Amino acid sequence: MTDKIKHFLQFRDLSRGELEHLFERTRIIKERFKRYQPYHPLVDRTLAMIFEKSSTRTRLSFEAGMHQLGGAAIYLNTRDTQLGRGEPVEDAAEVISRMVDIVMIRTYEQEIIERFAAHSRVPVINGLTNEYHPCQILADIYTYIEHRGPIRGKTVAWIGDSNNMCNTWLQAAEMFDFNVHVSTPPGYEVEPERAGLYGTDHYEEFADPIEACRGAHLVTTDVWTSMGFEAENEARMKAFADWRVDAEMMAVAAGDAVFMHCLPAHRGEEVDAEVIDGPQSVVWDEAENRLHTQKALMEFLLLGHIREQT
Ligand code: CP
Ligand code: NVA
Repeated sequence: MTDKIKHFLQFRDLSRGELEHLFERTRIIKERFKRYQPYHPLVDRTLAMIFEKSSTRTRLSFEAGMHQLGGAAIYLNTRDTQLGRGEPVEDAAEVISRMVDIVMIRTYEQEIIERFAAHSRVPVINGLTNEYHPCQILADIYTYIEHRGPIRGKTVAWIGDSNNMCNTWLQAAEMFDFNVHVSTPPGYEVEPERAGLYGTDHYEEFADPIEACRGAHLVTTDVWTSMGFEAENEARMKAFADWRVDAEMMAVAAGDAVFMHCLPAHRGEEVDAEVIDGPQSVVWDEAENRLHTQKALMEFLLLGHIREQT
């Protein structure tokens, strides 16, 4: 029975058809929310959220989202639970998944969330690991579609660290058939195996970030130092100095290119203020769409395909 449970541990855990269904449900759920129409399909359902790293958007969007769907959310962190005192992740999964209906985890190695899911009776969602951030890319692609239409065949420029966000963009490119131009400093290149790629030709690496941005329809970046890598901060500040998204990079992108950043951002490090606060930036819509896409995700993982006319 356990192997029939659908988890969302990395982007490719859902099929393209399922992801397209999620985007359609997101549109409906978002419109309903904007009209102040209650929608409570998850009455009596409980989400456990386990955080081993900090969060603003992920916690808020899952907690508010579950409440808006009629259910309840419980916040757990490593410090205040037995997980922080060495209880095996497998034991925690056995227990937690007997008490709630769905679990979201933000942790370090992907392997931790996989071990949890293997011992869970309920769906598990990746709220960020060192390797992946699939919920963010759901929101990012939905935001692109809202602003510019289908992403198929488009070019995304990824500037900076080949981190969890970059890896997930690369998985999404395989799924939705778009291209990613990646530009990282030497020594920080994409590791295809760590990114979980099928070895396709959906990305190209550029030594020069300007060249990566040329003609791109979406330019995006992220912090130079991700959570868990703080010890490398000083070295990274030096290595990434030329990988700041600036007006020159946006100027060589497509005329209607948008700028995205998963946030939190550091103006003057990975992005200039005039870009993130400028007319091409869609970062606030991107952040808001975490709420709507994750509501569609929880609905799907708990209730399956919902068909309704709007
Ligand atoms: N983008 C994102 O996941 O933000 P938080 O770290 O605030 O959750
Ligand atoms: N790459 C960043 C994303 C934060 C939302 C990190 O892992 O810290």
